[in-house]
Amino acid sequence: MTASARLVLGIETSCDDTAVALVDADGNVMSAVTASQAAIHSRYGGVYPELASRAHVDKILPAVRMVLEESEVDPAGLAAIGVTRGPGLIGSLAVGVNTATGLGHGWGVPVVGVNHLRGHLRSADLEQKRVSYPAVVLLVSGGHTLLARMTGPRDITMIGTTRDDSAGEAYDKVARMLGLGYPGGPVIDRLAQSGRPSIPFPRPMLDQGLEFSFSGLKSAVARHLAQATGVSKEDVAASFVEACMDVLVSKCRRALLEHPSTCLVIVGGVAASPQLRAAAKKLCDDTGVELCLPPLRWSTDNGAMIALATWDYLESDHLVPPVAQSALSIEEY
Ligand code: KG4
Ligand code: ZN
Repeated sequence: MTASARLVLGIETSCDDTAVALVDADGNVMSAVTASQAAIHSRYGGVYPELASRAHVDKILPAVRMVLEESEVDPAGLAAIGVTRGPGLIGSLAVGVNTATGLGHGWGVPVVGVNHLRGHLRSADLEQKRVSYPAVVLLVSGGHTLLARMTGPRDITMIGTTRDDSAGEAYDKVARMLGLGYPGGPVIDRLAQSGRPSIPFPRPMLDQGLEFSFSGLKSAVARHLAQATGVSKEDVAASFVEACMDVLVSKCRRALLEHPSTCLVIVGGVAASPQLRAAAKKLCDDTGVELCLPPLRWSTDNGAMIALATWDYLESDHLVPPVAQSALSIEEY
Protein backbone atom coordinates (compact mmCIF):
# COMPACT_ATOMS: atom_id res chain seq x y z
CA MET A 1 0.00 0.00 0.00
CA THR A 2 1.17 3.53 -0.83
CA ALA A 3 0.93 6.20 1.89
CA SER A 4 -2.15 8.27 1.07
CA ALA A 5 -2.20 11.08 3.65
CA ARG A 6 -0.73 13.45 1.10
CA LEU A 7 -3.26 12.53 -1.58
CA VAL A 8 -6.69 13.87 -2.55
CA LEU A 9 -9.21 11.87 -4.56
CA GLY A 10 -10.94 14.18 -7.07
CA ILE A 11 -14.33 13.27 -8.54
CA GLU A 12 -15.84 15.11 -11.50
CA THR A 13 -19.33 14.44 -12.92
CA SER A 14 -20.66 17.89 -13.81
CA CYS A 15 -21.48 17.11 -17.43
CA ASP A 16 -20.76 14.06 -19.57
CA ASP A 17 -17.38 12.79 -18.36
CA THR A 18 -17.11 10.51 -15.32
CA ALA A 19 -13.65 11.36 -14.06
CA VAL A 20 -11.64 10.35 -10.99
CA ALA A 21 -8.00 11.05 -10.06
CA LEU A 22 -5.54 10.93 -7.17
CA VAL A 23 -3.34 14.02 -6.89
CA ASP A 24 -0.81 15.30 -4.36
CA ALA A 25 -0.51 18.89 -3.14
CA ASP A 26 2.10 19.70 -5.81
CA GLY A 27 -0.20 18.65 -8.66
CA ASN A 28 1.47 15.29 -9.32
CA VAL A 29 -1.11 12.86 -10.67
CA MET A 30 -0.78 9.35 -9.21
CA SER A 31 -3.60 7.86 -11.21
CA ALA A 32 -6.51 9.15 -13.31
CA VAL A 33 -9.47 7.67 -15.14
CA THR A 34 -11.95 9.47 -17.40
CA ALA A 35 -14.90 7.52 -18.77
CA SER A 36 -16.19 9.51 -21.74
CA GLN A 37 -19.88 9.42 -22.66
CA ALA A 38 -19.28 10.86 -26.15
CA ALA A 39 -20.59 7.69 -27.84
CA ILE A 40 -23.88 7.98 -25.89
CA HIS A 41 -24.52 11.64 -26.73
CA SER A 42 -23.10 11.75 -30.26
CA ARG A 43 -26.39 10.80 -31.95
CA TYR A 44 -28.17 13.70 -30.19
CA GLY A 45 -25.56 16.33 -31.19
CA GLY A 46 -25.26 17.41 -27.54
CA VAL A 47 -25.47 16.12 -23.97
CA TYR A 48 -28.76 14.38 -23.10
CA PRO A 49 -28.96 15.12 -19.33
CA GLU A 50 -30.93 12.08 -18.18
CA LEU A 51 -28.67 9.70 -20.10
CA ALA A 52 -25.63 11.49 -18.65
CA SER A 53 -26.83 10.94 -15.06
CA ARG A 54 -27.53 7.27 -15.71
CA ALA A 55 -24.12 6.72 -17.30
CA HIS A 56 -22.42 8.39 -14.29
CA VAL A 57 -24.25 5.94 -12.00
CA ASP A 58 -22.88 3.02 -14.03
CA LYS A 59 -19.35 4.32 -14.38
CA ILE A 60 -18.42 6.12 -11.18
CA LEU A 61 -17.65 3.26 -8.79
CA PRO A 62 -15.64 1.27 -11.36
CA ALA A 63 -13.65 4.46 -12.05
CA VAL A 64 -12.93 4.98 -8.32
CA ARG A 65 -11.95 1.34 -7.94
CA MET A 66 -9.62 1.49 -10.94
CA VAL A 67 -7.81 4.58 -9.64
CA LEU A 68 -7.33 3.10 -6.16
CA GLU A 69 -6.15 -0.25 -7.50
CA GLU A 70 -3.73 1.31 -9.94
CA SER A 71 -2.09 3.42 -7.24
CA GLU A 72 -2.41 0.80 -4.46
CA VAL A 73 -3.59 3.45 -2.04
CA ASP A 74 -5.42 2.85 1.24
CA PRO A 75 -8.48 5.13 0.88
CA ALA A 76 -8.96 5.44 4.65
CA GLY A 77 -5.76 7.47 4.80
CA LEU A 78 -6.63 10.07 2.13
CA ALA A 79 -6.33 13.76 3.03
CA ALA A 80 -9.79 14.35 1.50
CA ILE A 81 -12.20 13.60 -1.30
CA GLY A 82 -12.92 16.65 -3.48
CA VAL A 83 -16.05 16.47 -5.60
CA THR A 84 -17.46 18.92 -8.13
CA ARG A 85 -20.52 20.56 -6.57
CA GLY A 86 -21.32 22.87 -9.51
CA PRO A 87 -21.88 24.47 -11.89
CA GLY A 88 -23.28 21.75 -14.11
CA LEU A 89 -26.19 19.43 -14.81
CA ILE A 90 -27.94 18.87 -11.51
CA GLY A 91 -28.58 15.13 -12.02
CA SER A 92 -24.98 14.53 -13.04
CA LEU A 93 -23.63 16.58 -10.13
CA ALA A 94 -25.88 14.67 -7.71
CA VAL A 95 -24.32 11.34 -8.72
CA GLY A 96 -20.80 12.60 -7.96
CA VAL A 97 -21.76 14.36 -4.75
CA ASN A 98 -23.77 11.43 -3.37
CA THR A 99 -21.06 8.92 -4.26
CA ALA A 100 -18.35 11.06 -2.67
CA THR A 101 -20.45 11.53 0.46
CA GLY A 102 -20.98 7.78 0.81
CA LEU A 103 -17.33 6.96 0.23
CA GLY A 104 -16.17 9.65 2.66
CA HIS A 105 -18.51 8.33 5.31
CA GLY A 106 -17.38 4.74 4.79
CA TRP A 107 -13.68 5.55 4.77
CA GLY A 108 -13.82 8.24 7.47
CA VAL A 109 -12.38 10.85 5.11
CA PRO A 110 -13.54 14.51 4.81
CA VAL A 111 -15.47 15.42 1.64
CA VAL A 112 -15.17 18.90 0.12
CA GLY A 113 -17.51 20.40 -2.50
CA VAL A 114 -15.46 22.06 -5.27
CA ASN A 115 -16.37 24.70 -7.85
CA HIS A 116 -15.79 23.13 -11.29
CA LEU A 117 -14.54 26.47 -12.69
CA ARG A 118 -11.87 26.71 -10.00
CA GLY A 119 -10.82 23.23 -11.05
CA HIS A 120 -10.31 24.36 -14.64
CA LEU A 121 -8.33 27.39 -13.44
CA ARG A 122 -5.88 25.12 -11.61
CA SER A 123 -5.52 22.60 -14.47
CA ALA A 124 -2.50 24.47 -15.87
CA ASP A 125 -0.48 23.55 -12.77
CA LEU A 126 -1.04 19.79 -13.07
CA GLU A 127 2.11 17.63 -13.36
CA GLN A 128 4.32 20.70 -13.25
CA LYS A 129 3.95 24.20 -11.84
CA ARG A 130 3.51 26.57 -14.78
CA VAL A 131 1.46 29.57 -13.69
CA SER A 132 3.07 32.70 -12.28
CA TYR A 133 1.01 35.58 -10.94
CA PRO A 134 -0.53 38.01 -11.69
CA ALA A 135 -2.21 36.17 -14.55
CA VAL A 136 -5.02 36.73 -17.01
CA VAL A 137 -7.02 33.54 -17.49
CA LEU A 138 -9.27 32.66 -20.41
CA LEU A 139 -11.61 29.83 -19.44
CA VAL A 140 -13.20 28.56 -22.59
CA SER A 141 -15.28 25.39 -22.40
CA GLY A 142 -18.65 23.95 -23.38
CA GLY A 143 -20.40 25.60 -20.45
CA HIS A 144 -18.40 28.83 -20.07
CA THR A 145 -16.38 31.49 -21.81
CA LEU A 146 -14.91 34.05 -19.43
CA LEU A 147 -11.86 36.08 -18.58
CA ALA A 148 -10.53 36.33 -15.05
CA ARG A 149 -7.64 37.99 -13.35
CA MET A 150 -5.74 35.94 -10.76
CA THR A 151 -3.20 37.32 -8.31
CA GLY A 152 -2.77 33.91 -6.65
CA PRO A 153 -4.26 30.44 -6.98
CA ARG A 154 -7.23 31.44 -4.83
CA ASP A 155 -7.57 35.14 -5.68
CA ILE A 156 -9.90 35.37 -8.65
CA THR A 157 -11.75 38.35 -10.12
CA MET A 158 -13.95 37.91 -13.15
CA ILE A 159 -13.28 40.60 -15.76
CA GLY A 160 -15.45 39.45 -18.67
CA THR A 161 -17.96 36.78 -19.62
CA THR A 162 -20.32 35.80 -22.41
CA ARG A 163 -23.72 37.40 -22.82
CA ASP A 164 -25.17 34.24 -24.34
CA ASP A 165 -23.46 31.05 -25.56
CA SER A 166 -19.99 29.75 -24.78
CA ALA A 167 -17.42 29.19 -27.51
CA GLY A 168 -17.49 25.41 -26.94
CA GLU A 169 -21.26 25.40 -27.31
CA ALA A 170 -20.88 27.22 -30.64
CA TYR A 171 -18.38 24.55 -31.79
CA ASP A 172 -20.84 21.83 -30.77
CA LYS A 173 -23.83 23.50 -32.50
CA VAL A 174 -21.88 24.15 -35.71
CA ALA A 175 -20.75 20.50 -35.69
CA ARG A 176 -24.36 19.45 -35.30
CA MET A 177 -25.41 21.67 -38.25
CA LEU A 178 -22.70 20.03 -40.34
CA GLY A 179 -23.78 16.52 -39.23
CA LEU A 180 -20.48 15.84 -37.46
CA GLY A 181 -21.65 14.45 -34.09
CA TYR A 182 -20.62 15.43 -30.55
CA PRO A 183 -18.33 16.82 -29.18
CA GLY A 184 -17.83 19.28 -32.00
CA GLY A 185 -14.48 20.80 -31.06
CA PRO A 186 -11.99 18.14 -32.18
CA VAL A 187 -13.79 17.35 -35.45
CA ILE A 188 -14.27 21.03 -36.39
CA ASP A 189 -10.55 21.62 -35.68
CA ARG A 190 -9.59 18.75 -37.98
CA LEU A 191 -11.91 19.82 -40.79
CA ALA A 192 -10.79 23.45 -40.52
CA GLN A 193 -7.21 22.42 -41.23
CA SER A 194 -8.12 21.41 -44.77
CA GLY A 195 -10.48 24.34 -45.51
CA ARG A 196 -10.08 27.99 -46.53
CA PRO A 197 -11.37 30.72 -44.19
CA SER A 198 -13.20 32.31 -47.14
CA ILE A 199 -16.61 33.05 -45.56
CA PRO A 200 -16.79 36.40 -43.72
CA PHE A 201 -18.61 35.26 -40.56
CA PRO A 202 -19.16 38.02 -37.96
CA ARG A 203 -16.81 38.63 -35.01
CA PRO A 204 -19.43 39.51 -32.35
CA MET A 205 -18.55 42.29 -29.86
CA LEU A 206 -14.97 42.41 -31.13
CA ASP A 207 -14.51 46.03 -30.09
CA GLN A 208 -16.66 46.00 -26.99
CA GLY A 209 -14.67 45.55 -23.80
CA LEU A 210 -14.05 42.10 -22.38
CA GLU A 211 -17.53 40.70 -22.99
CA PHE A 212 -18.19 37.86 -25.43
CA SER A 213 -21.16 36.78 -27.54
CA PHE A 214 -21.29 33.69 -29.74
CA SER A 215 -24.98 33.27 -30.59
CA GLY A 216 -24.79 35.65 -33.60
CA LEU A 217 -21.84 33.73 -35.02
CA LYS A 218 -23.74 30.46 -34.62
CA SER A 219 -26.80 31.94 -36.38
CA ALA A 220 -24.62 33.30 -39.19
CA VAL A 221 -23.30 29.78 -39.82
CA ALA A 222 -26.89 28.43 -39.84
CA ARG A 223 -27.97 31.15 -42.33
CA HIS A 224 -25.02 30.46 -44.57
CA LEU A 225 -25.78 26.72 -44.62
CA ALA A 226 -29.46 27.41 -45.41
CA GLN A 227 -28.73 29.86 -48.26
CA ALA A 228 -25.49 28.81 -49.94
CA THR A 229 -25.24 26.09 -52.56
CA GLY A 230 -22.34 23.65 -52.90
CA VAL A 231 -21.14 24.40 -49.39
CA SER A 232 -17.68 23.09 -48.46
CA LYS A 233 -17.83 21.83 -44.86
CA GLU A 234 -14.09 22.38 -44.64
CA ASP A 235 -14.42 26.06 -45.62
CA VAL A 236 -17.31 26.57 -43.18
CA ALA A 237 -15.23 25.01 -40.39
CA ALA A 238 -12.12 27.04 -41.29
CA SER A 239 -14.12 30.31 -41.45
CA PHE A 240 -15.92 29.58 -38.19
CA VAL A 241 -12.69 28.71 -36.37
CA GLU A 242 -10.99 31.84 -37.68
CA ALA A 243 -13.88 34.00 -36.42
CA CYS A 244 -13.69 32.32 -32.97
CA MET A 245 -9.91 32.77 -32.81
CA ASP A 246 -10.13 36.45 -33.78
CA VAL A 247 -12.60 37.08 -30.96
CA LEU A 248 -10.86 34.98 -28.29
CA VAL A 249 -7.37 36.28 -29.01
CA SER A 250 -8.33 39.95 -29.36
CA LYS A 251 -10.16 39.79 -26.00
CA CYS A 252 -7.06 38.24 -24.41
CA ARG A 253 -4.93 41.00 -25.92
CA ARG A 254 -7.24 43.66 -24.49
CA ALA A 255 -7.38 41.94 -21.08
CA LEU A 256 -3.56 41.89 -20.94
CA LEU A 257 -3.45 45.59 -21.84
CA GLU A 258 -5.97 46.53 -19.16
CA HIS A 259 -4.54 44.13 -16.55
CA PRO A 260 -0.78 43.84 -17.11
CA SER A 261 0.24 40.29 -16.15
CA THR A 262 3.20 37.94 -16.35
CA CYS A 263 1.17 35.04 -17.62
CA LEU A 264 -1.76 34.26 -19.94
CA VAL A 265 -3.47 31.03 -18.88
CA ILE A 266 -5.92 29.31 -21.23
CA VAL A 267 -7.98 26.43 -19.82
CA GLY A 268 -11.19 24.49 -20.56
CA GLY A 269 -12.11 22.11 -23.38
CA VAL A 270 -11.53 24.61 -26.21
CA ALA A 271 -7.95 25.10 -24.91
CA ALA A 272 -7.31 21.73 -26.60
CA SER A 273 -7.73 23.45 -29.98
CA PRO A 274 -4.42 23.56 -31.91
CA GLN A 275 -5.63 26.75 -33.62
CA LEU A 276 -6.20 28.46 -30.27
CA ARG A 277 -2.86 27.24 -28.91
CA ALA A 278 -1.04 28.60 -31.97
CA ALA A 279 -2.89 31.95 -31.96
CA ALA A 280 -2.27 32.39 -28.22
CA LYS A 281 1.43 31.61 -28.66
CA LYS A 282 1.69 34.31 -31.31
CA LEU A 283 -0.08 36.81 -29.03
CA CYS A 284 2.26 35.97 -26.14
CA ASP A 285 5.37 36.15 -28.35
CA ASP A 286 4.20 39.61 -29.55
CA THR A 287 3.46 40.92 -26.07
CA GLY A 288 6.27 39.26 -24.09
CA VAL A 289 3.82 37.46 -21.80
CA GLU A 290 4.32 33.85 -20.73
CA LEU A 291 1.76 31.38 -22.10
CA CYS A 292 0.57 28.76 -19.60
CA LEU A 293 -1.48 25.89 -21.00
CA PRO A 294 -2.54 22.64 -19.35
CA PRO A 295 -1.35 19.46 -21.08
CA LEU A 296 -4.03 18.41 -23.62
CA ARG A 297 -5.26 15.65 -21.33
CA TRP A 298 -6.17 18.15 -18.60
CA SER A 299 -7.83 20.76 -20.86
CA THR A 300 -11.17 18.98 -21.02
CA ASP A 301 -13.05 17.90 -17.88
CA ASN A 302 -11.05 15.63 -15.58
CA GLY A 303 -10.77 14.53 -11.96
CA ALA A 304 -7.18 15.71 -11.47
CA MET A 305 -8.05 19.42 -11.75
CA ILE A 306 -10.78 18.95 -9.11
CA ALA A 307 -8.30 17.20 -6.81
CA LEU A 308 -5.70 19.97 -7.20
CA ALA A 309 -8.33 22.65 -6.50
CA THR A 310 -9.35 20.68 -3.40
CA TRP A 311 -5.87 21.29 -1.96
CA ASP A 312 -6.57 25.07 -2.22
CA TYR A 313 -9.78 24.56 -0.26
CA LEU A 314 -7.99 22.54 2.42
CA GLU A 315 -5.11 25.01 2.72
CA SER A 316 -7.47 27.98 3.11
CA ASP A 317 -9.92 26.15 5.39
CA HIS A 318 -12.82 26.41 2.95
CA LEU A 319 -14.36 23.08 3.86
CA VAL A 320 -17.39 23.60 1.62
CA PRO A 321 -19.99 20.84 2.06
CA PRO A 322 -20.65 18.63 -0.96
CA VAL A 323 -24.06 19.97 -1.98
CA ALA A 324 -24.90 20.04 -5.69
CA GLN A 325 -25.60 23.48 -7.14
CA SER A 326 -26.29 23.92 -10.87
CA ALA A 327 -25.24 27.61 -11.04
CA LEU A 328 -22.07 28.93 -9.39
CA SER A 329 -19.86 31.89 -10.27
CA ILE A 330 -16.13 31.57 -10.66
CA GLU A 331 -15.51 33.81 -7.66
CA GLU A 332 -17.39 31.50 -5.30
CA TYR A 333 -15.90 28.47 -3.58
O1 KG4 B 1 -14.14 21.76 -20.35
P1 KG4 B 1 -15.03 20.81 -21.06
O2 KG4 B 1 -14.55 19.37 -21.20
O3 KG4 B 1 -16.45 20.74 -20.42
C1 KG4 B 1 -17.12 21.87 -19.91
O4 KG4 B 1 -16.81 22.27 -18.76
O5 KG4 B 1 -17.96 22.40 -20.67
O6 KG4 B 1 -15.28 21.44 -22.50
C2 KG4 B 1 -16.05 20.76 -23.47
C3 KG4 B 1 -16.08 21.63 -24.72
C4 KG4 B 1 -16.99 21.09 -25.81
O7 KG4 B 1 -17.79 22.15 -26.26
C5 KG4 B 1 -16.02 20.61 -26.88
O8 KG4 B 1 -16.53 20.72 -28.20
C6 KG4 B 1 -14.85 21.55 -26.67
O9 KG4 B 1 -14.76 21.72 -25.27
N1 KG4 B 1 -13.59 20.98 -27.16
C7 KG4 B 1 -12.85 21.54 -28.13
C8 KG4 B 1 -11.77 20.66 -28.37
N2 KG4 B 1 -11.89 19.59 -27.52
C9 KG4 B 1 -13.02 19.81 -26.80
N3 KG4 B 1 -13.01 22.69 -28.80
C10 KG4 B 1 -12.10 23.00 -29.73
N4 KG4 B 1 -11.06 22.21 -30.04
C11 KG4 B 1 -10.86 21.02 -29.38
N5 KG4 B 1 -9.82 20.24 -29.70
ZN1 ZN C 1 -15.47 21.90 -17.64
